[in-house]
Amino acid sequence: MNILGIETSCDETSVAIVSNGKDVLSSVTNSQQAIHEKYGGVIPELGARKHIENIGVVYKEALDIARLGLNDIAAIAVTTSPGLSPALKTGIAFAMGLSQYGLPLIKVNHVIAHAYSLFLSQAYPNPDYPIITLIVSGGHTQLVRFDSPIEFEILGSTIDDAAGECFDKVARMLNLPYPGGPVIDKISSLGDEKAISFPRPMIESNNFDFSFSGLKTAVLYHIRDTKLTPSLEESNDPQKEISRLTTYDIAASFQEAVVDVLVDKTVRLAIKESVRNIGIAGGVSANSRLREKMIRRANEHNLDLFYPELNYCTDNAAMVAGLGYHMLKQD
Ligand code: KG4
Ligand code: ZN
Repeated sequence: MNILGIETSCDETSVAIVSNGKDVLSSVTNSQQAIHEKYGGVIPELGARKHIENIGVVYKEALDIARLGLNDIAAIAVTTSPGLSPALKTGIAFAMGLSQYGLPLIKVNHVIAHAYSLFLSQAYPNPDYPIITLIVSGGHTQLVRFDSPIEFEILGSTIDDAAGECFDKVARMLNLPYPGGPVIDKISSLGDEKAISFPRPMIESNNFDFSFSGLKTAVLYHIRDTKLTPSLEESNDPQKEISRLTTYDIAASFQEAVVDVLVDKTVRLAIKESVRNIGIAGGVSANSRLREKMIRRANEHNLDLFYPELNYCTDNAAMVAGLGYHMLKQD
């Protein structure tokens, strides 16, 4: 059964066709990152306009790659929340248009779809239920227990910034481009993660909630105290060289603090719930240090760790179509 998924909740216009919730026949994503980079973040109205311009082309390409026509599609799954309202509306309107051809319309929650991205992997083994999944994106940081693709309980959430949002804001403080997560990930390998001891907010708390805004402020104060202008520019000027090396160290130390909290809480929750399977999903699950430390801790505690292929970490319609299949089956 082929489900066509549509995702336009933020700055990616994506259409995918997934067979039986597992085989990705096509997944086409047009990213607006280059457009929003100029502004240091997503401009919702501009994004919506770009979605309108792109969605028809992306849709056609998804059908062409899968070598299918609309009559081979059983249902349309579309992200309806959460997300930027003008952006979401484009995908919803397009999906409603397609459903006029007699196809069921499945309304998919974007955050829960992220958790399903683990199940699309061809490269890694299929995870099993129950599973505790850490969903870490630009808009959300949640620990969720899943007993099936559609049965879940949210056991922890951020009380302020999301982890990805914090990566993006700290990147901005370091004069790095948007989105900040991938750049911080990359330059952190050049820095010393022990150089600065940033706080690990709420790591000791009894609950499974997160808070990242204090960490963000700690980074801001640290940058101010160094009296340097963060930069990646290579230079013969010793002062600029110090700035560059300090930028690496701040990035690495900040990333380490975020990763430590995420890993610690996920593993502790799995142990508390007596669940063997843990997963990471969402844009920040692409982070190399998060994967490295999560693998290590999972091994220490005999837990099975699952993560999405890199192209399914950030926003994509394949995860929407995959989850949509299970929602349709349940009806
Ligand atoms: O899941 P996603 O594409 O969109 C939302 O649903 O928000 O996540 C985007 C977020 C951005 O904040 C971006 O900086 C972050 O994921 N991100 C990363 C990495 N790649 C993307 N954060 C840390 N390390 C990465 N490698
Ligand atoms: Zn997302």
